[in-house]
Amino acid sequence: MAAEVRKAVFPVAGLGTRFLPATKATAKEMLPVVDKPIIQYAVEEAVEAGITELVFVTARAKRAIEDHFDRSPELEGELESRGKADQLREVRDILPPGVSCLYVRQAQALGLGHAVLCARPAVGEECFAVILPDDLIHHEGAGCLAQMTETFEREGCSLVAVESVDPDDTARWGIVDVAGSAERVSTLSGIVEKPPPAEAPSNLGVVGRYLFRPGIFEALETTPRGAGGEYQLTDAIARMARSERVAAYRFSGRRYDCGSKLGFLEATVELGRKHPEVGDRFSAFLAGIR
Ligand code: G1P
Repeated sequence: MAAEVRKAVFPVAGLGTRFLPATKATAKEMLPVVDKPIIQYAVEEAVEAGITELVFVTARAKRAIEDHFDRSPELEGELESRGKADQLREVRDILPPGVSCLYVRQAQALGLGHAVLCARPAVGEECFAVILPDDLIHHEGAGCLAQMTETFEREGCSLVAVESVDPDDTARWGIVDVAGSAERVSTLSGIVEKPPPAEAPSNLGVVGRYLFRPGIFEALETTPRGAGGEYQLTDAIARMARSERVAAYRFSGRRYDCGSKLGFLEATVELGRKHPEVGDRFSAFLAGIR
C-alpha cells in the first residue's frame, strides 16, 4: 500500500492580473464565491481528503490568506458577546482541530514548478498533493482530492487530474499523452504545457490537482526553464514520467476556472443556486431574468 498523504501545497503567489482592479490590494484567492473565499474551497477539499498539513507558497500582499486561516480573538470575542453563535461557529470552524498551516515565501515569480520546489523544505521526502485554488471543483460525492488519494493507495504512482477540454483550447492547459484515453486511470506517456491544437497529443487537459511521489522534487531541480521562460511543473512531470510511472486521473465533478472571469461567474451561479440559505430565491431570480 502507498504511503499516507498528509501534506498539500497551495501555490498562491500569483498576482491575479485577470481580476484587476479587484485584486489590486486583495489576494485573488480571497475573492468570495458566494460566502467563502476561493482558497477555502480548496482547503476544505484537502481536509476532506485527510490532509493535515497545509503548505501555502505565498508572496507579498498575500497576508489576508494567513489571517483567514488564523484565529481572530477580537472578532470571536465580539460575536460571542453579541450572542451570534452561528457566525462564531463559522469563523472558528474554518480549520478543524489537528490541521496546521505553514507559509513559505516565493520571492520571485519564476513559475509553478519553482513555486512547488519552494515547498520542498516543508514537505521533505513524503508523498504530497498540490492544489491550484483557481480550479474550484464541485462534486456532490467525494471531492476530487479524496478520489485521488483513494486511487493513489491502490495505484501507488503519482497522479495528475485531467478532464476533456475543447480541442481548440489546448493552448490554455497542460495536455497529457495517454494510451487508453477512455480509462479512469491511464499511464502517462507524455505531457506538454499549453500546446497549440495542431501539436496537442490529446484533448485531455490538466486540472489543478496533483498527487506526487517525492521524486518530483528531483525532477524539478533538474528541469530547465520552459514555456514563457518559467520553470514549468508540467516539464518536471514529463521528466519524472521517463523514470517512474505517472498516471492521468479522470475525476468526477465539475471544474470551474476561477482564474478567469467567466469561470468565476459560473461557479458563483452554480454554488449560489445550491446555497442552503439563498439557493431557492436565487434560482427563482435567475429564472426571471433574460
Ligand atoms: C497551470 C498549469 C497547467 C494546468 C493549469 C490548470 O497553468 O501550468 O498545466 O493545465 O494550471 O489550471 P496556469 O493556470 O497556472 O496558467
